[in-house]
Amino acid sequence: MNISVFGLGYVGAVVAGCFARDGHTVIGVDVRSSKVDMLNRGVSPIVEPGLPELIAAGWRQGLIRATGDAEEAVLASDISLICVGTPSTADGGLQTDFLESVCAEIGAALAKKPGYHVVVDRSTILPGTVEGKMIPLLERHSGKRAGVDFGVAMNPEFLRESSAIKDFDEPPKTVIGEYDERTGDVVAQLYARLSAPLFRTSIRVAEMVKYADNVFHALKIVFGNEIGSIAKACGMDSHEVMRIFCADRKLNISPAYLRPGFAYGGSCLPKDLRALTHHARTLGIAVPVLDGIGSSNEAHIQRATGEILDLGARTVAFLGVAFKAGTDDLRETPNLELVKRLRAGGCTVRLYDGPVLDSIQAGTAFYLEEHLAEYKPLFAATAAEAVAGADLVVVGNAAPEFRKIIQDLPPRTPVYDLVRLFGNGDMAPDNYRGICW
Ligand SMILES: NC(=O)c1ccc[n+]([C@@H]2O[C@H](COP(=O)([O-])OP(=O)(O)OC[C@H]3O[C@@H](n4cnc5c(N)ncnc54)[C@H](O)[C@@H]3O)[C@@H](O)[C@H]2O)c1
Repeated sequence: MNISVFGLGYVGAVVAGCFARDGHTVIGVDVRSSKVDMLNRGVSPIVEPGLPELIAAGWRQGLIRATGDAEEAVLASDISLICVGTPSTADGGLQTDFLESVCAEIGAALAKKPGYHVVVDRSTILPGTVEGKMIPLLERHSGKRAGVDFGVAMNPEFLRESSAIKDFDEPPKTVIGEYDERTGDVVAQLYARLSAPLFRTSIRVAEMVKYADNVFHALKIVFGNEIGSIAKACGMDSHEVMRIFCADRKLNISPAYLRPGFAYGGSCLPKDLRALTHHARTLGIAVPVLDGIGSSNEAHIQRATGEILDLGARTVAFLGVAFKAGTDDLRETPNLELVKRLRAGGCTVRLYDGPVLDSIQAGTAFYLEEHLAEYKPLFAATAAEAVAGADLVVVGNAAPEFRKIIQDLPPRTPVYDLVRLFGNGDMAPDNYRGICW
């Protein structure tokens, strides 16, 4: 393909070099004339292992050159990859000035270009930026329509500096957020030779995935450092701890616990988190991330409370009271904390939970009797009794029986789901709301 690459920084220079090596014809664009000059001499504009050789080879083959003229680049290419910087504003926001001026320039060039062209953002931008800024600018300056006259896609880059070429060739994944299928097909062709998993998705998801990735990486670093600091103070080798931790691919390094849903609770996580952060305090070690976990959980319970109260229901049926399905253990279930707040907000709440009812009948609901006695009268004998006449049904855990109960509700009964009982493609009721989806 003929590819124009806007922005010859750490991403753009690598992208330009690698696509030229793959046999594409690449024209780089940058506002810094020094970078344009360097590329036009076959010299890498950045320091990155292996890149000088790639760029020199591409230049010798006549596959790579640069210009300061956006129009020239657009007219000479089928696809434009935007790799400009998106630094922070003074208050931490996302600065999109460079992206916006590139879009204006590409748009103006598109006005003069007959035929189809694809514009792909590779810079990291917040969800909504492509639809809210990029497309309007391209359309305004070109007088053409996205999805008709030109294609638009969001294709985040996952390379890391110092191993950028290897990461380009062996990315963890390829993500293409596509405005339409035709655009997605063009972008996918660029990566056809890669064996990495390919995800074709919406533009917003592609924008968000990149942020989920990077904040998770940052979180992992500080988590490892906080655990390491406590481990060191306790006289052990933190690397041995984390080696064993990371070997657990079932619960630790895995998708477990990463599906957006409700707050954590139960008999272990809250108490163990408290014990470790308390221990860190006694050791004089600051662990702000571990300390912040509880307040994040609390904020989430409050978010659910606010959203449910905003629905205006007076009588709420709460299905699934234990922190997860299949247990009668009510210790620190966040669901009862939510119930407490809904009642304080004026709701009448009826509870249903099969395993909890079993333990009441068996006379073994000791924790309920001894610590949560005020909730016992709120339990209905059956799910049908709990939901009868309810203005709203809250799904608190994923007991398999709840799906049918929800599907059999009278039409238009609102449902607030804390556990995503209904997945993608499922028939969910009309008035169905998820807590974080
Ligand atoms: N650096 C990384 O490792 C990395 C990895 C993945 C994603 N990203 C993301 O990729 C984007 C680019 O990052 P970077 O580190 O390569 O940035 P960078 O600052 O190194 O390079 C950006 C380049 O864009 C040029 N530029 C600015 N305005 C321009 C315009 N109107 N026309 C043409 N060129 C213009 C600048 O002169 C500069 O050379 C950012 O959104 C970043 O978050 C970076």
